[in-house]
Amino acid sequence: MLANKKILICVTGGIAVYKAVALVSKLSQAGADVKVVMTKSAMEFVTPLTFQAMSRNDVYFDTFDEKDSRVIAHIDLADWADLVIVAPATANVIGKVANGISDDMVTTVLLATTAEVWFAPAMNVNMYEKRSVIRNIDTLAKDGYRFIEPSEGFLACGYVGKGRLEEPEKIVKLVQENFVPKNLPLTGKKVVITAGPTRERIDPVRYVSNFSSGKMGYAMAEAATKLGAKTILVSGPVSLNPPSGVQVIHVESAAEMFEAVSRNYDDAEIVIKAAAVADYRPAEIHPQKIKKSDSDSVINLERTTDILKTLGERKQQQILVGFAAETENVIENGMGKLERKNLDFIIINDVTDPDGGFGNDTNVVTLLSKNGTNKLYPAMPKNDLATLLLEAIIEEVKVGNSHDR
Ligand code: CTP
Repeated sequence: MLANKKILICVTGGIAVYKAVALVSKLSQAGADVKVVMTKSAMEFVTPLTFQAMSRNDVYFDTFDEKDSRVIAHIDLADWADLVIVAPATANVIGKVANGISDDMVTTVLLATTAEVWFAPAMNVNMYEKRSVIRNIDTLAKDGYRFIEPSEGFLACGYVGKGRLEEPEKIVKLVQENFVPKNLPLTGKKVVITAGPTRERIDPVRYVSNFSSGKMGYAMAEAATKLGAKTILVSGPVSLNPPSGVQVIHVESAAEMFEAVSRNYDDAEIVIKAAAVADYRPAEIHPQKIKKSDSDSVINLERTTDILKTLGERKQQQILVGFAAETENVIENGMGKLERKNLDFIIINDVTDPDGGFGNDTNVVTLLSKNGTNKLYPAMPKNDLATLLLEAIIEEVKVGNSHDR
C-alpha cells in the first residue's frame, strides 16, 4: 500500500519516543521507505541504532555530520520526503517551527522541506493546554501544517488527560488514506469479491472441495484496489498471498462465505462472485474420524445456499457480477444464469479451452451483461484480464445508467 512512498519521521524528545519506534516499524512493514531524524533529547530515550534497524536506513541527528559529500544532508532529506511526520512532537519543536527557528537537524529539515508536514504531539496535559502552545499550534495549522491530535488517557507523568501520542496503527492508517490516489474510477467505492474454493467437512480430517486456485478472484481484488476501491476479499482456502491494500476475510465453507458476504453486502457498490462455491455439502458432519470398513460407503449430500442467487434476490444499488464455468452452449447457459440469479454481468469461463480455467495463470472468458454486451476476451494473464473486465463493467454502468434493477 505504501510501496515507493518516502516518509521522513522526525523524532523529538519525550517518553513517547518508544511509540515512534513502532510507527517506523509499521510504516516499513507497509512497504514505505522510512528515514528518521532525531533531536539530541530524543536520543536520551532511544538510540539511533534502534531506528536504523527498524527503518534499514541511516538515522540523522547532527546537522554537521555530512554522510555523503555529494549532497547537503538536511536539504537532501527535506527534498527526498513525500511526507514528513514529527512524532512525538514536543511543545518545544512546535514552538520552534511556529517561529521559524532551525537550530538542529530536525528543525533545519522541517524548515527546508516543501513536503507536507504532520505533527503528532505528545506531552503533559497542562503543557498541551498552555496558551503559548495553543497559539503555536494555531499558527502552524494556519500555515498548512496538519496535526494528529493526541488521545486522552494515562500520561507517563502521572496525569490523566489529553497528551498521549496517537497510536502508531492509527497514524499508519492516516498515512495510507493520505496516499490513496484520488479520482480513480472506484475511489471511495466498496467492492466485495469472493475467491477460491469452499471446503465442506465430512469429519475432522476430510472434506469435499474443488480445484479452484483462487487466482482469478485475487486478480480481480488487486485490479479493483488499483482502480481505487476499498476491496473486501472473501477467500476460501488457497495458497496465494493477498494483494496489498485488500482486506481479506478467510472462510472455509459455503455457509461461512455466505455469512461474510452478507455482512458486507448492504453498502457494497460492486459484488463479484469469483469463488467456486461447493453446490453440495455432507448432510452430516461426523464429530469423530469415520473408520473404514470392508463394505462400500455412501455420503449423503445436501444443497448449500446459492449465495449469488440470494444476493440477486436482495439486490438494491449493488452491481452484481457472477462467474460461470461452462463446457457446452457457453453463451446460452451463461445468459440463463445471468437471468435466473438477477445479475448485471456474468463472466463465463469455457473450461474446455486449454488457456483457461482452474489453476492457469491465463484465462479466456466472455463477458455478458443484462444490457446485451457479449464480448470475448482472448487468452491473457488473469491480472490483465481482471483490469479489462472491471474497466468494461465500470464503463457500461457509467455510460449505460439504464441498469434499471
Ligand atoms: N455460486 C454461489 N453459491 C453457490 C454456488 C455458486 O454464489 N452455492 C456462484 C459462484 O460464485 C459463481 C456462480 O454462482 O459466481 C456460478 O454459478 P453456478 O450456477 O453454480 O454455475 P456453475 O458453477 O457453472 O455450475 P452449474 O453449471 O452446475 O450450475
